[in-house]
Amino acid sequence: MKEGKSSSTAWGVTLARVAHVRFDDSPPIFDDSLAFDLVETEIQPMLEHYGPKPAPDDREKCDPAMDQLEKIRRARAYLPLRQLYQEERLAAAYERGIRQYVLLGAGLDAYAFRQPPGRTDLSIFEVDFPATQAEKLARIKQLGWRAPANLHFTPCDFENGSLAEALCRVGFDHHRPCYVAWMGVTVYLDGETVRSTLADVLSLAATGTSIAFEYALPIEDLSGTELLCREFSLAQKNREREPFRSHFRLAEIRQLALDVGWKRLEALDHEATAERILSGRQDGLSIQMGFRLAEAFV
Ligand SMILES: C[S@@+](CC[C@H](N)C(=O)[O-])C[C@H]1O[C@@H](n2cnc3c(N)ncnc32)[C@H](O)[C@@H]1O
Repeated sequence: MKEGKSSSTAWGVTLARVAHVRFDDSPPIFDDSLAFDLVETEIQPMLEHYGPKPAPDDREKCDPAMDQLEKIRRARAYLPLRQLYQEERLAAAYERGIRQYVLLGAGLDAYAFRQPPGRTDLSIFEVDFPATQAEKLARIKQLGWRAPANLHFTPCDFENGSLAEALCRVGFDHHRPCYVAWMGVTVYLDGETVRSTLADVLSLAATGTSIAFEYALPIEDLSGTELLCREFSLAQKNREREPFRSHFRLAEIRQLALDVGWKRLEALDHEATAERILSGRQDGLSIQMGFRLAEAFV
């Protein structure tokens, strides 16, 4: 991230989740359509790029590049899955009695605006890079939306600021446990910042706290659609501003979490999840994007 510049990946992943609702088979894996409003008006027309393509002509049918693009497009099911996982783990934490929800790198997350009516006893802390958060706040104002009373905006740059201080400034209670979601962020941080953020969260975590997060697999471990997706992402022109910086194997991220003091890590079984959420669908979606999901517990 660059000083003063907001994240373009935040609206990129939001548009992919909305496209899934608009253009793929029903029911969606996760319905994040409300988040579309949070995307800037000038950016919204880009949703069409995610839409159905005209039927290929005979030449295109034999073009391997077209076939590859279609595989990459279909892998977008990973993004609603990530949101589903984030909010399933939130529901489990709420069941355990957790009443503080911290979103690290919240982007255009819309949970606060579609939260179930019975859950307003949950304090929501949206932590994000200051420029990204300022843009979201401006958009909320432009839409005339009112931020719910249980939502607390927390600007913080993980690479240059103290997360604990930022949270405490907006009323986070470190004597009470929390559930932290850290989705779509670690890949943009270097390994040391991933470690220090895991340690920072732990430093403010009362017993019962957990952190659900995503990590990117190393490119050497990818093949098939996962490799295509990674090569496509690396070639995107905004990558220069938000480069991919950290990659982990499961054993490495588990060791890192344990080293900084987390007690255990539960990885989501990627293949079993694909089976669970995709079987029976006719739209040929996949979740093979080269990322994995896990939750660490204190
Ligand atoms: C791909 S978006 C993910 C947004 C959201 N979690 C989602 O899944 O829709 C990445 C987010 O990480 C944030 N981010 C990246 N580097 C950061 C840093 N050094 N400090 C704080 N936030 C950062 C960006 O501002 C952006 O909101």
